[in-house]
Amino acid sequence: MSAKLKIGMFFFGLLVLGKTVGQELPRTYKAPEFDVEWRKPTNHPDRIVLSYGEDPSTTASVTWRTTSEIDTAYAEIAIATAAPKFWRNAKTIKAGTTTFDAIEINEAEILANYHSVWFTDLKSDTTYAYRVGDGKRWSEWIQFKTAPKESKDKFSFLYVGDTQNFILELWSRLIRESYKKAPDAKFIVHAGDLVNNAHNEQQWQEWFDAGGWIHSSIGAFPIPGNHEYRNLSPETSERSLSVQWKHQFTLPENGPEGLEETAYYMDYGNMRIIGLNSNVDHEKQAEWVDHILSRTDKDWVIVTFHHPLFSASEGRDNKEWRELMKPIFDQYEVDLVLQGHDHSYARGRVSPKENVLDGVNMRDKTGTVYVVSVSGGKMYGLRKNAWEGYDAERDRAAENTQLFQVITIEDNKLSFESYTAVGALYDAFDLIKRADLPNEFIERDTEAIVERRFSNTIPYQDPLPKGAEESLLSKYPGFEITGVHFVNDTNFIGYKVRLERGEDREEISLDVNGKFLD
Ligand SMILES: [Fe+2]
Ligand SMILES: [Fe+2]
Repeated sequence: MSAKLKIGMFFFGLLVLGKTVGQELPRTYKAPEFDVEWRKPTNHPDRIVLSYGEDPSTTASVTWRTTSEIDTAYAEIAIATAAPKFWRNAKTIKAGTTTFDAIEINEAEILANYHSVWFTDLKSDTTYAYRVGDGKRWSEWIQFKTAPKESKDKFSFLYVGDTQNFILELWSRLIRESYKKAPDAKFIVHAGDLVNNAHNEQQWQEWFDAGGWIHSSIGAFPIPGNHEYRNLSPETSERSLSVQWKHQFTLPENGPEGLEETAYYMDYGNMRIIGLNSNVDHEKQAEWVDHILSRTDKDWVIVTFHHPLFSASEGRDNKEWRELMKPIFDQYEVDLVLQGHDHSYARGRVSPKENVLDGVNMRDKTGTVYVVSVSGGKMYGLRKNAWEGYDAERDRAAENTQLFQVITIEDNKLSFESYTAVGALYDAFDLIKRADLPNEFIERDTEAIVERRFSNTIPYQDPLPKGAEESLLSKYPGFEITGVHFVNDTNFIGYKVRLERGEDREEISLDVNGKFLD
């Protein structure tokens, strides 16, 4: 052992001994490190992701990645049968290939080729098998099922809020649990903030690894959040859509001009689902959504976007967006709105547009139901006064809980179920569609587990030593502790605390006993 190291260990030992005798230090979390090689492409297809076109009964798309050496690629597709040589009936389709040169892009620093194909003229309600490759190297055969043609048959899909943080570490268990709960889900709505840093290759690799073959077997319906927008280099402050987005997803190009593949819609069975890009061009999308809502005869209409109309958490109001969109959703009686951004859970509703006959219990009728949810590992607190001041009623909420949602539609009934990362039913309601009447609303709260808050779950923040909170708040009157992080490394051992009062923010360091260091 070198003399320098010995001296270092001696001082570190002194620091640790500085704590009160018998005091247990909080456990610290060691985030995984990844080698750069881990996220790099090979000549073998990876990041295989399935999506659908506007009509998922006849179209699907698949996108995958290789090194830039693979410049010719193909997909093969056949109707799947139990007999293994179903490939005798396969069709080969040449892929479109784009070179993804992001070597100069902040946090991307990668060169790869992406390949994509559209499968068209598919038979409805049919299980297909496909594989992708360059003619020599091929993926496994992957199965998916097309939507029924014109149907009121039962189908389910999944909806997840922000993935964003601890993606491989913690979102993996969530998305895999969702697959166990709803293995027959037809597609997955990702309501924005799929990653934390838009162009970060490491985080996209985590997203693809966490979902694995779920991404290639169940169609993705992703829309971008604010974290999918970031500057391309330190020299510019202009935020650009994740450079990976259009390379790695092949989505319906039926959205407003300039917003293709970030705002789009799909018709599945008797439902139209519309994805909006709440980051940009609000007016343009208001016009567009009005237009496409006025031209659908589907029984059910669901809209998804990132920034919630009724925010779940404090200080995150999206007033302009709400005032623009809510009247349109009211007018066309949108059934359900699926959102993200607030890293907590909130579900509620607005009054129905139509007047309800006297003597009918208003609680049983509803206008649009709005949901905010979170699937990744980053958690915010709930708004103090529920949805007060929003002209909407919040019925159910959660803090500090990773959740996924299973939405099932069968003819005139929609069932919404939210599950925790360990598969417990957290929230449930049904909507019954009635001709020329507001939806009937059936609350199913008796089936769900007890409400979850920071106060009755494993602490999200590191716990401060006894008395530290009181002394902090007496030194900073009117402030609130919004972050506590216990650090235990060679440079520092103690607490980093964030305090906020409105716009004011203080970062404080405390020693292991909670005494001020600054
Ligand atoms: Fe987020
Ligand atoms: Fe967000």
